Amino acid sequence: MASAMFIAVLLTLAAVGALASDPGPLQDFCVADNTSQVLVNGFVCKNPMKVDANDFFFSGLNKPGNTTNKVGSNVTTVNVNQIGGLNTLGISLVRIDYAPYGQNPPHTHPRATEILTVIEGTLHVGFVTSNPQNRLILKVLNAGDVFVFPVGLIHFQFNPGHENTVAIAALSSQNPGVITIANAVFGSNPKIDGGILAKAFQVDKKDTIILQYASLLFNYMLMMLRELMTYVVHFDFTVLVNGFVCKNPMKVDANDFFFSGLNKPGKTNHKIGSNVTTVNVNQIGGLNTLGISLVRIDYAPYGQNPPHTHPRATEILTVIEGTLHVGFITSNPQNRLIFKVLNAGDVFVFPVGLIHFQFNPGHENAVAIAALSSQNPGVITIANAVFGSNPKIDGGILAKAFQVDKKVIDELQSQFWEDNNK
Ligand SMILES: *[C@@H]1O[C@H](CO)[C@@H](O)[C@H](O)[C@H]1NC(C)=O
Ligand SMILES: *[C@@H]1O[C@H](CO)[C@@H](O)[C@H](O)[C@H]1NC(C)=O
Ligand SMILES: *[C@@H]1O[C@H](CO)[C@@H](O)[C@H](O)[C@H]1NC(C)=O
Ligand SMILES: *[C@@H]1O[C@H](CO)[C@@H](O)[C@H](O)[C@H]1NC(C)=O
Repeated sequence: MASAMFIAVLLTLAAVGALASDPGPLQDFCVADNTSQVLVNGFVCKNPMKVDANDFFFSGLNKPGNTTNKVGSNVTTVNVNQIGGLNTLGISLVRIDYAPYGQNPPHTHPRATEILTVIEGTLHVGFVTSNPQNRLILKVLNAGDVFVFPVGLIHFQFNPGHENTVAIAALSSQNPGVITIANAVFGSNPKIDGGILAKAFQVDKKDTIILQYASLLFNYMLMMLRELMTYVVHFDFTVLVNGFVCKNPMKVDANDFFFSGLNKPGKTNHKIGSNVTTVNVNQIGGLNTLGISLVRIDYAPYGQNPPHTHPRATEILTVIEGTLHVGFITSNPQNRLIFKVLNAGDVFVFPVGLIHFQFNPGHENAVAIAALSSQNPGVITIANAVFGSNPKIDGGILAKAFQVDKKVIDELQSQFWEDNNK
């Protein structure tokens, strides 16, 4: 009996250890039913027949948050509490506004890796590795730069300029959680005994508050009880693993978490009129094992990102400029099209593996930033995969599958299928 329980505990621990982020979905979606009294990990699902596009939708991320507060920053969250459709999908988005000299003070997300891009302005960003190194990895970011904060590590951002700064960041959880170190340690309710803190942080009780705060940061970082979680790609192709093997942590620096140039539009002057710039583990080695990545998508007037799926990722997209018609299709047997018109600041979710698309109906360019819940989400462009495979799928099979004349299939197969998203 005791040994059976021991094995059960071991198996449970092994299962918990295997989950790097939120549990994987077991259906197309499980939109949060916020009226239910049943408590589960996350939320129970709303009746799928009552689900519509608004369950995957949020509006207003183009509006700056009010930064008139002590720290001079404001985080606007778009997680499962704002978009019920994110329930079970392991991803969310935030917009962060920074006043001149404002900061997003040292904090951790217990359940998520964060990938951030600067939309305008400049940011000093950093994170601290866990015990025993507690190395500070620091970087200056400008518009279009992308930086990764690995799951659970203490990190911060500071705006050193006298202009406002704006960032969009994605997190690999529907509900990442935030622990602001200063508040948790010095502002808990009830308060932690002052003597205990004085000893923990090795400061004199009579020291000034400023000194205590500085000490707090330094010493808290030294005290962190976490395993080294900084796995970085080591491009050694002789060993094949799920993802990449890790680079020596002592050789890791800020550039392993950094990408530059996401402010530059991709060229859209071709047949489908869109271009996807990817920032995944192939561009940022530090994303290895962290389950998240980013893309910028440019759309020419009337350009589209044609129907495709990401086999390994849910996508959460925000429109930076212009207008987009977007949609996804539920799986068999319903195959329901969930469709929405998006403008700047709107946010929309494409659940993992479902076929989806975006179309720019305007005569101006459109730009979107999207995050995906995999370091390497993969793309399957439906038209290319079905009609442009190498070797080709038998035309008779396709004619039957699509219930059209074989001549239609021959014509489709003879086309050159443009790839906007390799
Ligand atoms: C619950 O969800 C509905 C529909 O999404 C929303 O209108 C309502 O404000 C939500 N209620 C709470 C308490 O979050
Ligand atoms: C953030 O901005 C919103 C919208 O302006 C405001 O309602 C909220 O109070 C601000 N939060 C903080 C912490 O200043
Ligand atoms: C921002 O918040 C401050 C302090 O709460 C308030 O005085 C100010 O009017 C707010 N600004 C806007 C634009 O709402
Ligand atoms: C996307 O844009 C980049 C940068 O302008 C360009 O090098 C690339 O060829 C473009 N891709 C396609 C499919 O047009």
